[in-house]
Amino acid sequence: MTRMEPLLSVRNLDVAFDTATGPVRAVRGLSFDVGRGEIVALVGESGSGKSNAVLGVLDLVRAPGRRTCDSILFDGQELVGMPARQMRRIRGGRIGMIFQDPMTALNPLIPVGRQLIDLARDHLGLDRAAARTRALSILARVGITAPEERMKSYPHQMSGGIRQRVMIAMALICEPDLLIADEPTTALDVTIQAQIIELVKELQAEFGLSIIWITHDLGVVATLADRVIVMYGGREIETGSADDVFNRTGHPYTQALLDSMPRIDAPEEAELRALPSGRLTSDDSGGCAFSERCPRVFDRCRVEAPPFATLAPAHQARCWLPVDTLASEDVPGASQ
Ligand SMILES: Nc1ncnc2c1ncn2[C@@H]1O[C@H](COP(=O)(O)OP(=O)(O)OP(=O)(O)O)[C@@H](O)[C@H]1O
Ligand SMILES: [Mg+2]
Repeated sequence: MTRMEPLLSVRNLDVAFDTATGPVRAVRGLSFDVGRGEIVALVGESGSGKSNAVLGVLDLVRAPGRRTCDSILFDGQELVGMPARQMRRIRGGRIGMIFQDPMTALNPLIPVGRQLIDLARDHLGLDRAAARTRALSILARVGITAPEERMKSYPHQMSGGIRQRVMIAMALICEPDLLIADEPTTALDVTIQAQIIELVKELQAEFGLSIIWITHDLGVVATLADRVIVMYGGREIETGSADDVFNRTGHPYTQALLDSMPRIDAPEEAELRALPSGRLTSDDSGGCAFSERCPRVFDRCRVEAPPFATLAPAHQARCWLPVDTLASEDVPGASQ
């Protein structure tokens, strides 16, 4: 395989939960690539399926959830159907993860140093001394002062910012090719948040990592991401370079997300415009899931789900009337 091939290629990923009232489809037919060294942001409101998308990739969806997928190629290897044991070696080894709540990933009963050492021994086959040296160096690298001392701490003895740094160290100790970070900074105050984002940028440059960064904070996306995937109702509804998605926005939902974001460049008029309210349009309508909330909805949207419209090379939006086309075209049938 060539270096030009994406590191990760996901095709037609579905995650569904069986509930008393029938299946809930958390992720629907999601397909995306992550290039080598690329930082891809996955954004969307709460409940849009971001976490389940990456859990699906890692085969970590818990019952009553079910994952189905046509193909997940990771560095040329097919992950769909891979034996659990082999999959475990990839997770935490070649794919590192940072979770929103560090306490879900750190064992509260074991000092963090031992947790790091165990990872390095399990995944890299290092002996205890080599694993310890590596743990110390990665702790120092993520900006932890007095790593020797810190190794002895239990997770509850650390502040949120330090715990998140330890989580990053755990995700990186095996030098993964892909880092998946699920809202890794939401629990932190803004100053620590900014430090963690700077750190991730540095590490990305240093190790040539590919990153999937899940967030609902578009400010973070603007400073960090090469490419953006916007999710709504389990589907990818817009995808493109960060520049395209921010400056030549296609989907009215993305536009609403951007409008609801406080602007530092326009403090005077900056009024926080809330996202239009309304429910996700139900499955059986057959129409666009955003139609009930969309300011530009017209008849067709309610009965027929739009396919991806290509706005520019590698910039697509699932909309019958992508914003980009509105300026130049007279669009009959659109209600305001
Ligand atoms: N255990 C469950 N049972 C039923 N439905 C579930 C369950 N877990 C998740 N879902 C469904 O999956 C959808 C997507 O959830 P997911 O956690 O992936 O969203 P998210 O985008 O990560 O949200 P957040 O920003 O709040 O983390 C939810 O809206 C919900 O309908
Ligand atoms: Mg989530």
